[in-house]
Amino acid sequence: MRRILLFVLPILIIVSVAFTIFGIFQVRFEEEKLIDDLKRKAKSVAESMDLSVKHLLITADLKNANYLVEKFEARERLQGCVIYNKKGQILAITKKFTDWKNKEKPYLKEVLNNKEPRGELEKFKEYTVYSYILPILDDERKILGLVEVIHDTSYVFTRLAELWRRISITLISLVILILFTSIFLNRQIFVLPVQRLTEWFRHFQKGEIDDRHPIKEKGELGKLASEVEQVALSLRVVRRTISDEALIRLQKEELWTEEKLRNLIHAKLGENALFVVSNREPYMHVLDETTGMTKCISPASGVVTAIHPILCACGGTWIAHGSGNADKKFVNSKDKLGIPPEDNRYILKRVWLTKEEEEGYYYGFANEGLWPLCHNTHTRPIFRESDWQMYKKVNQKFASSILEELPARNPFIFIQDYHFTLLAKMIKEKRPDATIALFWHIPWPNPEAFSICPYQEEILSGMLGSDLIGFHVQNHCNNFLDTANRLLESRVDTEKFSVMRFSKETYIRAFPISVDGHIRSRSFNVEPIREIQRLKKEYELEGKIVGVGVDRIDYTKGIVERILAIDRFLEKYPHYKKNFVFIQLGAPSRTHIKRYHDLMGEIDEIIEKKNWKYLEGGWKPIIYLERHFSADEIEPYYMIADFCIVSSLHDGMNLVAKEYVAAKKDLSGSLILSQFTGAARELTDAIQINPYSIEDFSEAIRLAIEMPMEEKRKRMENMRKVITENNVYRWAANIITELAALKKM
Ligand code: G6P
Repeated sequence: MRRILLFVLPILIIVSVAFTIFGIFQVRFEEEKLIDDLKRKAKSVAESMDLSVKHLLITADLKNANYLVEKFEARERLQGCVIYNKKGQILAITKKFTDWKNKEKPYLKEVLNNKEPRGELEKFKEYTVYSYILPILDDERKILGLVEVIHDTSYVFTRLAELWRRISITLISLVILILFTSIFLNRQIFVLPVQRLTEWFRHFQKGEIDDRHPIKEKGELGKLASEVEQVALSLRVVRRTISDEALIRLQKEELWTEEKLRNLIHAKLGENALFVVSNREPYMHVLDETTGMTKCISPASGVVTAIHPILCACGGTWIAHGSGNADKKFVNSKDKLGIPPEDNRYILKRVWLTKEEEEGYYYGFANEGLWPLCHNTHTRPIFRESDWQMYKKVNQKFASSILEELPARNPFIFIQDYHFTLLAKMIKEKRPDATIALFWHIPWPNPEAFSICPYQEEILSGMLGSDLIGFHVQNHCNNFLDTANRLLESRVDTEKFSVMRFSKETYIRAFPISVDGHIRSRSFNVEPIREIQRLKKEYELEGKIVGVGVDRIDYTKGIVERILAIDRFLEKYPHYKKNFVFIQLGAPSRTHIKRYHDLMGEIDEIIEKKNWKYLEGGWKPIIYLERHFSADEIEPYYMIADFCIVSSLHDGMNLVAKEYVAAKKDLSGSLILSQFTGAARELTDAIQINPYSIEDFSEAIRLAIEMPMEEKRKRMENMRKVITENNVYRWAANIITELAALKKM
């Protein structure tokens, strides 16, 4: 509409100005014509009275004079007639016009002297009249008196007003006509062809350009579409070549690298891009209200740590909730942006949620319901019907957002975590040709525990819309199969490890997730080394034993137990006082939930209490840094630490354990790892603990410190080998290879 106005407005202004000027001239002309007409009429009336008035004046016949002036009363537009004597005094006047007597008439004298007729417009009361005065002369041209004829002029102005009205109506009709014609022409010439072209581009984007969607546009737009078609063709040919080359290269490499994964994906998915869906986005734009600056941060999330390097390696589209308070400023018209922001390797599509949706779906159902349901930490899950309704609504919202993006044929969608249990089924309903894998990043409970969820059937059947469901460890797979077997009408095949429901088969497999590690590079970067020097100085770490913990502040992470174990360790081995520092990095998380809010207070309090207990000189045993840290910021802490504690009470995998091992390139350091993490199955060379047993835990800290260097190195080497071989690229490759085999891709 704005564009139409921009185009039409000048035309309308020109037409209106031209019409107004024309109107003014027309009205002037008409006015002159009518007044002339009036003058002529008044003159002829006055002249027709000349003889009779002359006679009346000579004979001083007042009675007939009155009779004469009344006779004119009935004449059209004539208001009055007045007869004056030679002194200018009124002899007779039309009765209904007697007020005229009171009007000042300085012009009478002039006419009596000049003996010339006079016709002028005169103001009388609130209106204008036309007065024509004819001097009455005797035969010797001596003045006998005057006759004045007064005409009403109001009809002139009525006629002029009528004329203006007609001109205005014509102008308005013209403006409307021009507007409608412009809208119509704009639609025919511009909007419709562009709409058709946009539609064509949409099909083109999805790879649907075939006989069903030919370019219909002619002219310049048609040429543009045809150019794009050529580019698409070349792109397709290049991609095909790449995928053939990829297959050949794939067979040569041994270790899983970014490149090898890229080759695999090209070989298996060919032209189809990868679509990843998660609640948490890999980058958030956040406005720092104190500085007024916008920061781009990578949130603390295992999902982000694992998936980001995969998409960086292979490209594709990641669809996630845009939860940063400045996120909207950094997307294009389709809510997308290139990631990483400084070196676009893949596309992030942000999905917007309202406060109510975020509250019900994320804080409520996902994190107060499913999260405690799946973690064995004795925090009671809360299931509210209103949260469940929001959860369903948001799953549907994500489904629509993904469906918009999918290419024409065989798309591959990789869903992450417990936020989207219903998504696979929703997508499959619309796109049965889609291949869908769901990865569950947290533990899966046993059937008894899961059965307390009031929406168990819908959740299980939603998840079984996937072709493949992945868990970190076999035990979670077993729990899931048991759950499906017991709580859902389905057939579980323990040979194939699959669940069959309504003739749809879903395979259940364990894929232990990992980090990219960059483990093979043995060189140290300059930046972390500098940062280590800074940390040593700031926290007076030189010569001390340094421990580190890196967590989201979550009750599943066993942070309180960790502090208690450190306390017990110092109680038992006081000679470590002043020689020991534990640095805890804690990223605030889900703080709107009371349990999380309370936990933050609880941690603050216990650290404060224990630090006070051991405070000596400037030394305190625990340094607590409660804020968000980026991966680059965390690395120097890992490098500086003689040991790292991961004491989760229950954890799907825990990538901090693997990140610590990956960062320890010099093989120094020990990992204290909870036996209740998925990582404990692979990192068997870690010092494993039961975080609930504070006594054993404190002993593990002592062991980590006192273990002979040779043994530390050996253990670290073994753990690094595990991570090198089972890095995140292998994890993704395993999932894709498994799917390809199952779906015969
Ligand atoms: C766990 C979940 C992830 C989640 C992360 C951080 O690792 O498995 O899906 O992203 O916690 O939690 P948040 O709620 O901040 O995304």
